[in-house]
Amino acid sequence: MKEIVIIGGRGNGTVIASVIEDCADSGQNIKCAGFLNDFESEINGYPVLGKIRNGNWKKLSGHLYFIYAMSNVNQSCMRHRLLQELNIPAERFATIVHPSAVVSKKASLGNGVVLMPFVHVGPDVAIGNHSQFFAQSFVGHDTEVSEFVFVANNASIGGRVRVEEGAHIGSNSSVLERVTVGRYSLVGLGSVVIRSVAAFEKVAGNPAKTIGYFCPDHA
Ligand SMILES: CC(C)(COP(=O)(O)OP(=O)(O)OC[C@H]1O[C@@H](n2cnc3c(N)ncnc32)[C@H](O)[C@@H]1OP(=O)(O)O)[C@@H](O)C(=O)NCCC(=O)NCCS
Repeated sequence: MKEIVIIGGRGNGTVIASVIEDCADSGQNIKCAGFLNDFESEINGYPVLGKIRNGNWKKLSGHLYFIYAMSNVNQSCMRHRLLQELNIPAERFATIVHPSAVVSKKASLGNGVVLMPFVHVGPDVAIGNHSQFFAQSFVGHDTEVSEFVFVANNASIGGRVRVEEGAHIGSNSSVLERVTVGRYSLVGLGSVVIRSVAAFEKVAGNPAKTIGYFCPDHA
């Protein structure tokens, strides 16, 4: 039995708990053991097993796995640094694939990856640690997705795209094949990306144009 502790809370965390429930209902040997959360004692019927900081994860049983659920569109970099500071070994993070997701046998998924309902991952796609694909998103062939990438629902990423660490691809957006979506950049919801996006750049619209930049120190 793979027992998972979700680092986070309501929102992304409860969505991931629900995906785990679907996985269990479909016969996967998996369950949500609870949350690490700084503010609550119980979340949707699951116990909060400790706060996130202060090494609390080390006090939990060594057989538990973790999943990171704290992405935030405006603070991705800071939140990811927080996770890295916890120093949880990569192999302690589970990879969760919803039973309705379609994943090519030629794709590779890192630790802490979550694929939600009806996600489609094409051949020769590599998805880095802690990257999460929300419902009905698609990633085409030969695309490289780095770590901590957040792909919102219904986003469509073409073939041979490079999505760098911490990028956020908004709901219902499309990314043309062969472009690069830079580190900690943001693609606004409903956007059509037809040229590469720079690191920390925010783009939106059809065709997607620059609407601003994150400050690298505060993103
Ligand atoms: C881009 C976003 C983060 C807003 O960023 P922001 O820096 O606060 O931008 P603002 O709201 O100040 O808007 C700046 C300009 O961009 C435009 N804009 C913002 N988002 C846009 C979008 N998705 N499409 C088109 N234009 C957009 C605004 O109209 C505004 O234009 P103006 O200067 O002509 O008035 C937000 O609109 C967005 O798309 N978030 C993604 C949400 C998402 O994917 N959620 C998934 C949850 S699972």
